[in-house]
Amino acid sequence: MAASVCELPNSTWEGLWDSLIYADDIKLKLLDYIHATLLLSDANVDFNLVSWNRVVLLHGPPGTGKTSLCRALAQKLSIRLSHRQVVISPCSVMYSHARLLEINSHSLFSKWFSESGKLVQRLFNSITELVDEEDAFLVVLIDEVESLTAARAGAMAGTEPSDGLRVVNALLTQLDKLRHRKNVLIMSTSNLVKAIDSAFVDRADIVQYIDLPSRDAIYEILRTCLCEIVAKGIVASIGSPMLLT
Ligand SMILES: Nc1ncnc2c1ncn2[C@@H]1O[C@H](COP(=O)(O)OP(=O)(O)OP(=O)(O)O)[C@@H](O)[C@H]1O
Ligand SMILES: [Mg+2]
Repeated sequence: MAASVCELPNSTWEGLWDSLIYADDIKLKLLDYIHATLLLSDANVDFNLVSWNRVVLLHGPPGTGKTSLCRALAQKLSIRLSHRQVVISPCSVMYSHARLLEINSHSLFSKWFSESGKLVQRLFNSITELVDEEDAFLVVLIDEVESLTAARAGAMAGTEPSDGLRVVNALLTQLDKLRHRKNVLIMSTSNLVKAIDSAFVDRADIVQYIDLPSRDAIYEILRTCLCEIVAKGIVASIGSPMLLT
């Protein structure tokens, strides 16, 4: 399976957005980006003049919530889009539904030489078919994007097989085609931003570093976990023992 698709909003990710805690205003910044993307699309801005590739890249150490943040953001976006059906503004494009397509990067590598580039091509043909439904908004999540976009410099130096080069080229070409479509957004995550081809990083409108949680964020994450465990009756909440004098 090269990818999985699910309808949004999805009950699995209810509450995920609020559960993610970051010290700075990362969540707000990403929401602003989504808002700007929709605004520019609605206004029919010429994306040849205003460079906007509809690509977000989140990178940082493992386990810092990058994948979760992408899913939560997709959920948030779909909820925002569904509100548009109620508040009808003359220039807003209406979407009857939204979907999240998660690419399984590793499955796009074939043991057969030259096949991988074709697999990427085939996957993007299916993505284009979904994007052709203009009343549906599609969020594409490319997790661990470094495996698809390993720097071509390595290939040129002969340290990377040329099949990897085909994959990067195929992906970049397909992304360039999608940037003209109003109803798509590409989100990607990586632990190894240095291994990503610079042409991909250049295409990202936002390259956001997701750091390990701060002391306050760790406290807040543990506090919410404990509150949930207490609320579900697994751990009883006890009062502080009285100090004997
Ligand atoms: N800042 C955070 N606040 C709350 N929960 C978090 C935070 N960061 C990570 N988590 C939790 O940690 C778990 C792992 O998160 P996730 O898989 O999204 O991380 P990741 O950055 O994609 O990891 P990897 O780089 O290994 O793919 C999730 O259950 C997520 O909810
Ligand atoms: Mg991840």
